[in-house]
Amino acid sequence: MTDTRTLEARALDAQRRAYAPYSKFRVGAALQVSGQVFEGANVENASYGLAVCAERTAVFAAVLAGAHRLEAVAVCTEASPPSSPCGACRQVLLEFAPDPAAVTVTAINPKGERRTWTLAELIPDGFSGRELP
Ligand code: THU
Repeated sequence: MTDTRTLEARALDAQRRAYAPYSKFRVGAALQVSGQVFEGANVENASYGLAVCAERTAVFAAVLAGAHRLEAVAVCTEASPPSSPCGACRQVLLEFAPDPAAVTVTAINPKGERRTWTLAELIPDGFSGRELP
């Protein structure tokens, strides 16, 4: 298992690799999934709407590695107070959280500020595959 501070350090490191020449809003993410750590960073495009958030690139890396059980999330931005994952990312994270109340989401910035929630707090009563026939 990865401790929270290690996950935060990985998110900070991933933030340095963000590709955000348009918004200049660099985001790094690190997820613990099935006991392993996966990093992500936002990747923008000259066709602005094609930007993909850091949290989602990290989820995609985990899935490509065969890891599906989301256990913890750390996100690093320059924002003060640290900014929380967008709505689309909350939904994508929920897809892989067997127990959203047990998934800690920590937002940090390089100044060392920190905010923490559970995924259940960020997306209460979220839509999941359980509703589908
Ligand atoms: N962004 C993320 O990477 N994660 C979020 O949760 C919110 C927004 C990125 C997308 C875009 O590259 C930039 O931040 C500005 O919206």
